[in-house]
Amino acid sequence: MSDYQEFRGGVNVVRRRGDVVHRPASPAAPAIHRLLQHVHDAGFRGAPQPLGFDADGNERLTFLDGDVHDTLTPQLRTPELLTSAATLLRNLHDATTGFRPEPGDRWLFKVRSPVEVMCHGDIAPYNSVVRDGLTVGFIDFDAAHPGPRVWDLAYAVYRYAPLHAPGNPESFGTAEEQGHRAAAFCRAYGPPAGADVIDVVPDRLQALIDFMREQAAQGNEAFQQHIAEGHTGLYETDIRYVRANRDTLRQAFEVA
Ligand SMILES: Nc1ncnc2c1ncn2[C@@H]1O[C@H](COP(=O)(O)OP(=O)(O)O)[C@@H](O)[C@H]1O
Ligand SMILES: [Mg+2]
Repeated sequence: MSDYQEFRGGVNVVRRRGDVVHRPASPAAPAIHRLLQHVHDAGFRGAPQPLGFDADGNERLTFLDGDVHDTLTPQLRTPELLTSAATLLRNLHDATTGFRPEPGDRWLFKVRSPVEVMCHGDIAPYNSVVRDGLTVGFIDFDAAHPGPRVWDLAYAVYRYAPLHAPGNPESFGTAEEQGHRAAAFCRAYGPPAGADVIDVVPDRLQALIDFMREQAAQGNEAFQQHIAEGHTGLYETDIRYVRANRDTLRQAFEVA
């Protein structure tokens, strides 16, 4: 492919040519493309539109204009960026409610009960497109799967508050400040999001650790590398941190 721009995510090398991105297709790609088409038809504009597959078997998607930031650098820690991510997630979830998975669909993650929506599965700054200080899109739907709203919210809040222990290189803020950002995210998302999301975070992170270990044991090199780089260790520390600071984090939801 000539004249392309190359991006590296946590797992994939993605190539953009003009308005189209070519990205290695996951086994779930056919189901994910139906999902992306469904949310587009439902009027949601914050996700790439599926454009089929190229001759090399890569998936083709529309390019979402804006910037994707790997981490929340100080200038990105604004209430506007935070709450626009939350509203966008609300709109995405709402746009998925009419989506009907088919029996043959292969999702990367296990279906989580109760099924309320299609979860994106990896809502984080590194999968969000920002324009003029606002979150305008989500990319990388590889981890999408049916599940409850709070399951997706727990991970989003973990990444955006962020609910990281002070030793985590991406951590910022006191537990109280993190609680306030988590609460602001949930308020912008709207009901049923609330303080209970805090109690889902450890389970959500543990499910991710278990999944990464399972995939690494089956030979997945990206996850083997993530584990070697200490990602699972960070999640374990953050699980303990969220449990230890549960009351402070939850109290932040009580202040209007
Ligand atoms: N549809 C898209 N629109 C805009 N940028 C994209 C799109 N898909 C991928 N990118 C760019 O490619 C990078 C890696 O993409 P991503 O799909 O998140 O890879 P990975 O699966 O490795 O996480 C992103 O950080 C972003 O810069
Ligand atoms: Mg990604």
